[in-house]
Amino acid sequence: MSKITAAITAVGGYVPDYILSNQILETMVDTNDEWITARTGIKERRILKDKDKGTSYLAIQAAEDLLKKSNTNPKEIDLVIMATATPDMPVAATGVYVASKIGAVNAFSFDLVAACSSFLYGMSTAARYIESGKYKKVLLIGADKMSSIIDYEDRTTCIIFGDGGGAVLFEPNEEGLGLLDEHLRSDGEGRAHLKIDAGGSLLPASIETVTNKQHYVFQDGKTVFKFAVSNMADVCAKVMEKNNLVGNDVNWLVPHQANKRIIDAAANRMGLPDEKVMLNIHKYGNTTSATLPLCLYDYEKQLKKGDNLIFAAFGGGFTWGAIYIKWAYNS
Ligand code: UT7
Repeated sequence: MSKITAAITAVGGYVPDYILSNQILETMVDTNDEWITARTGIKERRILKDKDKGTSYLAIQAAEDLLKKSNTNPKEIDLVIMATATPDMPVAATGVYVASKIGAVNAFSFDLVAACSSFLYGMSTAARYIESGKYKKVLLIGADKMSSIIDYEDRTTCIIFGDGGGAVLFEPNEEGLGLLDEHLRSDGEGRAHLKIDAGGSLLPASIETVTNKQHYVFQDGKTVFKFAVSNMADVCAKVMEKNNLVGNDVNWLVPHQANKRIIDAAANRMGLPDEKVMLNIHKYGNTTSATLPLCLYDYEKQLKKGDNLIFAAFGGGFTWGAIYIKWAYNS
């Protein structure tokens, strides 16, 4: 009997309509389009304006797009993994609510929280369930309403992040396609550099934490940048080496969209030209858990069965890694 691998068999995505451009940001904080474009590659990002909608809304839209496009019956889904850094609520997992709302009534669900690496770790997790042979359809959703945790008076963070959601379906494959290898890492020493100080068990919400703006993302950008550049490139190189891949063998780099300069560094190290690198940071900014599936969403039509894809991410924690997938279908 051939080995079961976990293949992505469908993709869905969603971004809200409202566009927050660099020009609008220029009216909000002391910044300018030239600086943002040169330092990050971002031109605009999408924002979920509705006050009564949380991350679950983005996730539901993305999942429903996938279900519709792939003609999948939600009742057949065994597991919904919700990758997010901005759950609807601290308690009552967002994925559970999303699963019910999309009609995945026979599934169980949980949230997976690993900052910007949530989706990457989710891919690894989804694959293990499929490879066990016990689960046939695992829906992995990555969504974040980053605008809910960003201080729009802080020019060092508000220019970076955006809202969005993406989803992929993992199913068993016996042709040797799907997730073939991975190299995942983490380092808790990094938590001082990218975090939200308050609202957790260490520093529960209080009037002081609100006054001190401790519920917003804090990032020491320079330090995170330094670690991201070297570590994301390192894990990509490692996965390529382990699988005897050289630049020519890789069809696509699917990188976390945090900063175009970080992506360029990884692509250079891998020996990949620009046209093999998925890029949509200019349109969406950094959507945290949604960057990888939104890349697939934008590039799905260009992917061919058998293509070699390297996924890579780096994020708060620190968390990072790379995953090697052989694409399983033609659109
Ligand atoms: O996805 C999770 C992982 N996160 C990342 O990977 C993000 C990693 N970090 C970065 O992408 C970059 O560090 C940033 C985009 C956040 C910042 O870019 P940078 O090139 O590292 O800039 P910097 O922090 O070194 O700041 C350079 C200058 C400073 O001014 P001085 O001290 O040189 O006078 C900043 O005050 O740019 C200033 N600056 C700005 N100027 C205009 C900082 N933010 C802005 C801004 N507009 N928005």
